[in-house]
Amino acid sequence: MSAEIINGKDLSLALKEEMKKEVDTLKTGGIHPQLTVILVGDHPASRSYVNGKEKACGETGIGSHIIELPKTVSESDLLKEIHRLNGDTNVHGILVQLPLPVHIDEQKVIETISPEKDVDGFHPINIGRMMTGMDTYLSCTPYGIITMLRSKNISIAGKHAVVIGRSNIVGKPVAQLLINENATVTTCHSKTENLKQFTRIADILVVAVGKANMIDASYVKEGATVIDVGMNRLENGKLTGDVDFDSVQEKASFITPVPRGVGPMTITMLLKNTIKAAKRLEN
Ligand code: GUN
Repeated sequence: MSAEIINGKDLSLALKEEMKKEVDTLKTGGIHPQLTVILVGDHPASRSYVNGKEKACGETGIGSHIIELPKTVSESDLLKEIHRLNGDTNVHGILVQLPLPVHIDEQKVIETISPEKDVDGFHPINIGRMMTGMDTYLSCTPYGIITMLRSKNISIAGKHAVVIGRSNIVGKPVAQLLINENATVTTCHSKTENLKQFTRIADILVVAVGKANMIDASYVKEGATVIDVGMNRLENGKLTGDVDFDSVQEKASFITPVPRGVGPMTITMLLKNTIKAAKRLEN
């Protein structure tokens, strides 16, 4: 078997075309969706992610503004800036790029962003809403993964999904979204004993471990759907996932590549959340 590739880049392009129309309609009604990103310091990877978000906003007609603060900014000055944006009616979505310098309490920052403008879906109120299946901003990578599965009509209900990784940004929320879709979910992590006993019985395997090519075909059940959240830069500069694509492609029925897989979908779902935030103002 050679797995069908779920191309996140192509799906993103199609979704962005639809969103462009939605943004045009909102603008006709006098609402100009606007995302403000706060970038603290000059971390090169963060800078590159933020540039990607700005570019994607431009492609759909969403306004974007980047506020750059020095890495020495005090926590209280950063919180003040967030309060100002919370009160600015022209700003619909607020995103503080993580990680932050160690002298700033990330959780405090996340909790200061108004839940109505939390387009990352990181605020505990929005996480609670997601847990209980209420309408909310879903965090972007998990939301992108569910959207990719739906785009190929892959059944989730009743299936066994195994998630490797338990981060607050990916592992935990994706497990919860899969439960909301009626999957039976197992979460594995770095302390899991005999990882293969779980992965080999997964109908849907979501891999977010941060180790290049760790998951080869021996971890995968014949015909499984394999979602690779990894983004690892090799010494030769090549970007690669956590899944050994070549061997797993021979065994799976669906697989996401790296690049052009989950990565582009994460940014695309941020745009979707920003439009949702702007639509709150529609009557
Ligand atoms: N850093 C890495 N990924 C993300 C993300 O999705 N949102 C924010 N705010 N920071 C990040």
